[in-house]
Amino acid sequence: MKEKVSHYDERSKRLIAMGEMAASLAHEIRNPLGSMELYCSLLKKDLSGEAKLLSLAEHIHSGIKSLDRIITSCLQFARDHQPRCILVSDVKTMLSETIKGVSSRASSSGVQFVSEYIGQNKIYVDPYLISQAILNLLINALDAVNSCDSTQDRFVKLTSDTSQEGIWVVKVMDNGQGIPLENQEKIFDPFYTTKCDGTGLGLAIVHSIVSAHGGQIEIESNFKDGTTVTIKIPYSIL
Ligand SMILES: Nc1ncnc2c1ncn2[C@@H]1O[C@H](COP(=O)(O)OP(=O)(O)O)[C@@H](O)[C@H]1O
Ligand SMILES: [Mg+2]
Repeated sequence: MKEKVSHYDERSKRLIAMGEMAASLAHEIRNPLGSMELYCSLLKKDLSGEAKLLSLAEHIHSGIKSLDRIITSCLQFARDHQPRCILVSDVKTMLSETIKGVSSRASSSGVQFVSEYIGQNKIYVDPYLISQAILNLLINALDAVNSCDSTQDRFVKLTSDTSQEGIWVVKVMDNGQGIPLENQEKIFDPFYTTKCDGTGLGLAIVHSIVSAHGGQIEIESNFKDGTTVTIKIPYSIL
C-alpha cells in the first residue's frame, strides 16, 4: 500500500533558528578547517616516502574533507532561500546542467537514468535554487538505488511537466530501498539522516526552497519498492 505525506506546514521559526545556529557554527569552523586542510596537504608531501605515516595523514585528510562537506551543507541550509525569480523559457536547458553530474554518476554505477519533459510553457522561478533542490532529490534517489540489494534493474527518473496552467510539476522517481512509513515524517527535519556519510540537510534545503516558491512537496514511498518525490511550484505568479 502506498502512503502519502504532504509537507508544506509552517515550521519556519524552528528552521530559521536552526539555520542561524548552523551558519554561525559553520563560519567558526570553516577557517580552522581550511588551515588544517592546508597543513595536512603539506604534511602529505613531506611524508611521500613513508607509506605508514602517509596513510595516517590520508585518513586525517579524508576526515577534514568530510567535515568540509558538512559545513558546506550547513551554509547552504542557512542561506537565504528567498527566490530571485526570472523568466526561464527553456526548462530542459535549465535542468540539463543539474542532471549532467548525476546521470554520469548513475551510468558509472549501472543505474539507468531517464528524463522526460512535458509541456513548453515558460516558467518564472529562481533557476539556481530550483536546480539545487532538484539536485538534492536526484542524489537521494541515486543513493537509494545504490544501497538497495534488489536484483532488478535500478533506475532513477526525472519528469518535468509545465503543461498544467500555472503549476510546474517535477517528479523524481526511483526503485530504491524506499522509506519506511515511520520515517516519512522525519525526513524533512534538519540533520535527520539514515546514511553513515549523510548530513541530513538535503531535504530540509529542498523543503525550504520549495516553500519559498510557494510550492508543495509530496512523498510517495513504498518500503522496498521505491520512492517518488513530487514538487509542485506555482510558476507564473508569486
Ligand atoms: N529517494 C529516497 N529513498 C529512500 N530514502 C530517502 C530518499 N530520499 C530521502 N530519503 C531518506 O531521508 C533521509 C534524509 O535525506 P536528506 O535530508 O537528503 O539527507 P541525507 O541525504 O544527507 O541523508 C535520508 O537519510 C534517507 O533516509
Ligand atoms: Mg540527501
